Amino acid sequence: MRWNLGLTCAAALSGFVSEASADVYRDPDTGFSFSQKDVAITTNNNHITFRIAIPSPVPANQPYDAVIQIVAPNTAGWVGVAWGGSMTNNPLLIGWTNGANGVVSVRRATAHTAPTAYSGATAQVFKKGVKSNGTHWQVTAKCTGCTSFVTTGSNTKTLNPAGSNRLAFAYSRTKPSQPGSDSSPINVHDLFNYWDHDFAAAGNAQFDDLVKGNL
Ligand code: HEM
Ligand SMILES: *[C@@H]1O[C@H](CO)[C@@H](O)[C@H](O)[C@H]1NC(C)=O
Repeated sequence: MRWNLGLTCAAALSGFVSEASADVYRDPDTGFSFSQKDVAITTNNNHITFRIAIPSPVPANQPYDAVIQIVAPNTAGWVGVAWGGSMTNNPLLIGWTNGANGVVSVRRATAHTAPTAYSGATAQVFKKGVKSNGTHWQVTAKCTGCTSFVTTGSNTKTLNPAGSNRLAFAYSRTKPSQPGSDSSPINVHDLFNYWDHDFAAAGNAQFDDLVKGNL
């Protein structure tokens, strides 16, 4: 009886722990192990999935690359990730689909107006991990400069590779007007929100090799 009770408790505890721990997605297309989060965009369970992969280990306080995979319903014309967790003074990685191709663009804003090109970060779309079907599109890209950046003045923010980082997203139902160009104008978002992304579960020991295999 006592033994049974102990087993029941252990099972209940491990169930609880795995629910509370990070959601890791092993992507068969790109080979990366992503820390992922579904962020709601409607009240009826419609969501955008954000997946992030980083190298492991990451030396303390060093800039490091990140791979981001965005899976969005086809109703999303563009999806943006604000790496510093707000619209202004941080890299805004914007992605959308253009037929069979994915397009990404890193921009920046100093006010709540259309962001402009940002030279402090570069993003490269992967060959793999980019696809669409009747309901969703997804893009996967590597960003250099998205996890460490100047905010205001000479203040630099580096995202914690071993913990949680507050990110923000925005999306518009309207597609960019020149979808084949990464400098296309974009419409203002229909929705923005914030979430905490667990970078501690995003580590990939073979990061550099995986990047090479996907470019
Ligand atoms: C044409 C492009 C854009 C325009 C005109 C625009 C404009 C605005 C405006 C007017 C607000 C204030 C809304 C309010 O307070 O209710 C806002 C907030 C916000 N926008 Fe944008 N935006 C644009 C693109 C983007 C992009 C690409 C992102 C990327 C994630 C973004 C992220 C946010 C966020 C997170 C907020 C919440 C307030 C904050 O964190 O600063 N925006 N935007
Ligand atoms: C459609 O594509 C999305 C994104 O790649 C994927 O998550 C989903 O499972 C696909 N749906 C079907 C029916 O194949």
